[in-house]
Amino acid sequence: MKILHLSDLHFPTRIPFLQLRGKMIVGYLNYTLRRRKKYPSYVWSSILKSVETLNPEAIVVSGDITNVSHELEFQAAGKILSELPQDKIFYIPGNHDRYTKHAVGGNPFFEKYFSKLSGDSISHNAEYIRIKKIGDLHFVGWDSSLPLSILNAYGTIQPQVVETTQKILREKKIEDYVLVCHHPIWNPEERQETIHHRLRNREEIAVLLKKQPPLAFLHGHVHTNWVKFPGPLMPYYVINSASSTRLDDTRHQCGFHLLEIQNRNLKIQRYTYNQEQSKFTEAPLVSYSEKE
Ligand SMILES: [Fe+2]
Ligand SMILES: [Fe+2]
Repeated sequence: MKILHLSDLHFPTRIPFLQLRGKMIVGYLNYTLRRRKKYPSYVWSSILKSVETLNPEAIVVSGDITNVSHELEFQAAGKILSELPQDKIFYIPGNHDRYTKHAVGGNPFFEKYFSKLSGDSISHNAEYIRIKKIGDLHFVGWDSSLPLSILNAYGTIQPQVVETTQKILREKKIEDYVLVCHHPIWNPEERQETIHHRLRNREEIAVLLKKQPPLAFLHGHVHTNWVKFPGPLMPYYVINSASSTRLDDTRHQCGFHLLEIQNRNLKIQRYTYNQEQSKFTEAPLVSYSEKE
């Protein structure tokens, strides 16, 4: 089973200024002034070419498809993402897709535009828990994000989400699964996140997850690639996809991972965007063990 793991696509979309409200104004200005140029469309074209060449059976996008959760962004992203083979896709939302109160609640835009590609709800919408079988593998999606003030981008997972997920997996007799969540459950020592950016109850969730661990925990949010090998606290791979559409800077490298799962064994390859060749090429894996 070959899985392409993309994340943090943050597609650039123009929004009429008068349609912006509250936190969106600051977020949109910050994005247009500082970040828009970092997301040129030719990188997306290269991703499409890689999909053709690598021919994965599943494509996971671990959140942050938009920037300020405006409906125009979801519409535009839906159009761009329709270029991917739709039967292979698994999406979850990130904090930028839950940017304001309008992006959660009754009929949120993420669900309006992407629910068909995000799997079936297995919690009757009380909590966000989605499950989708692609090929012979089950993907479980969690939503760690919530609308916060402009200064915050942290996440939480309710312990009940872990317990409900495990109950359903047992009922459905699913043993092997891949878990997808926007916020990381682990960071290397030199890339720790502040309290304003990280999954706040990660230790609690890691303990609960040990009861029925996934094969791999896929996340984004940090905009650069790394992999943690299974260890005593987290007996599964933690795989961080970079922002796959954002050009490199000193702290972030544009890229994605290709995972190959066979008999519970995982082979992971890292690809980064090569400016000289104008395409994604294989690069050395950035990997850690749990204590690093
Ligand atoms: Fe992001
Ligand atoms: Fe994020």
